[in-house]
Amino acid sequence: MEQYIIKGGNPLIGEIEIGGAKNAALAILAAAIMSDEAVTVDNIPDVRDINVLLQAIEGIGATVERIGKHTARITGRTIKSTRVDYDYIKKIRASYYLLGALLGKYKRAEVALPGGCNIGSRPIDQHKKGFEAMGAEVFIEYGMIVSSAKKLSGSHIYFDMASVGATINVMMAAVLAEGNTILENAAKEPHVVDVANFLNSMGAKIKGAGTDVIRIKGVKALHGTEYSIIPDQIEAGTFMLAAAATKGDIVVKNVIPKHLEAISAKLIEIGCQITEEDDAIRVFGNCELKHTHVKTLPYPGFPTDMQPQITVTLALSQGTSIVTETIFENRFKYIGELSRMGASIKVEGNTAIVDGVRKLTGTQVSAPDLRAGAALVIAGLAADGYTIIDDIVYIERGYEEFEEKLRSLGAQIERVTNEKEIQKFKLKVC
Ligand code: UD1
Repeated sequence: MEQYIIKGGNPLIGEIEIGGAKNAALAILAAAIMSDEAVTVDNIPDVRDINVLLQAIEGIGATVERIGKHTARITGRTIKSTRVDYDYIKKIRASYYLLGALLGKYKRAEVALPGGCNIGSRPIDQHKKGFEAMGAEVFIEYGMIVSSAKKLSGSHIYFDMASVGATINVMMAAVLAEGNTILENAAKEPHVVDVANFLNSMGAKIKGAGTDVIRIKGVKALHGTEYSIIPDQIEAGTFMLAAAATKGDIVVKNVIPKHLEAISAKLIEIGCQITEEDDAIRVFGNCELKHTHVKTLPYPGFPTDMQPQITVTLALSQGTSIVTETIFENRFKYIGELSRMGASIKVEGNTAIVDGVRKLTGTQVSAPDLRAGAALVIAGLAADGYTIIDDIVYIERGYEEFEEKLRSLGAQIERVTNEKEIQKFKLKVC
């Protein structure tokens, strides 16, 4: 089993380059199959989730060429099947973006039904509602979501909640529907905008992405394109919080500071200094950190994908902080592990009451999911002594070269697979 071993206590110092946004790349690569012409996508992060999705895309017969570590060319002309099996979906929920992409292009899609996951039950009723409003039949049969339509017609759809997945999936199908579609109460996350920009570069007619109302004028076909994905807001935020928790001083480069405003604002509230440039943010955290309150909300609110990372930082900040999770019902699973490192946190329903402690201490903990795993790494970097993190496969789903990047900032962290390597690390760093 792969693990991280960390010797904590070093402030992170230096500069770090952020890669392409995983969640934008997942949707964009799925949408790439909607053209019969070649589509080249650049700035793809080289992480497990992306590689699984590319396999799923190959699995339906599309041609996938990996041109480099961060670039892929996809040609949808060779697609032979509109069925995506559970093998892919169980590894990565976002393969369900192939539902909207295939339904839009071929008016038929069969995609295994994603179940719940470690952070919550994650229903897909809003995706279904959107497809049905455009005239598709959607039913669940033998574990598959089967969706088909004689033709897709533009419609006026009001989502019950701002869902990133439903907005993107329905937007993809609507691009190749007949007539106009209006999506109300649409999600406004940066990756929704990136997917819309990508589809527009293929000839789609989408307006309003990034606001509550997205208007789509259906077109007959999409053409090839070359597109570069936006920087990853959550990877950037994770390094920013790691700098704060370790009292470090880092410059996070290749970011869009606007996408990070909710995170920067919280860091300023707790006493960090933040300076913004056009495409970089400096976080200076070498000061006494103070408590604050955080409530996760759809963009531009504080992202749920940053909740565990800020909770770790608040666990080391003076006073009592309150963290409220409003998006997913099961996102405090890491708190037990964090408490074993000395944090003082009580969870009541969807609220964590965090009493700041002076220090955390290292022990062996397990990553329950992607972002909570990253948060436990931050805890290990800030803690006294050694921390071993199990189940890092979750972390590798979404962070490219995480430990290498942290090491370049002065962290003492290594990926290990056995006790001998753990002992070797301890001899090296002591
Ligand atoms: C995406 C992100 C995930 C992030 C989340 C919220 C990807 C691949 N994943 O997930 O990292 O944490 O946005 O920013 O981009 N809901 C329903 N019915 C639906 C759809 C959603 O009730 O049909 C609910 C969900 O249970 C949740 C809320 O809506 O409470 C928001 O979920 P959503 O924005 O859809 O999250 P994902 O797209 O799954």
